[in-house]
Amino acid sequence: MSQELYVDLKRCQGHARCWAFAPETFAIDENGYAYVIPGREGSYEEEKVRKAIKNCPERSILLRES
Ligand code: F3S
Repeated sequence: MSQELYVDLKRCQGHARCWAFAPETFAIDENGYAYVIPGREGSYEEEKVRKAIKNCPERSILLRES
């Protein structure tokens, strides 16, 4: 089992700190909300993503078992 990264859009308020910390992993859609770039859900730089998770004010960046 591995862990898959995702953004909970019910929580995301578009602060874009995820993108600032890990632009290779997160992108911002046309409405200003974050998403994990397709293909990056299970393949990302842990240190940068850890910072993104810690700095999201809405706690909307999550990991789930895949
Ligand atoms: Fe949304 Fe948090 Fe990023 S609110 S845009 S997931 S910093």
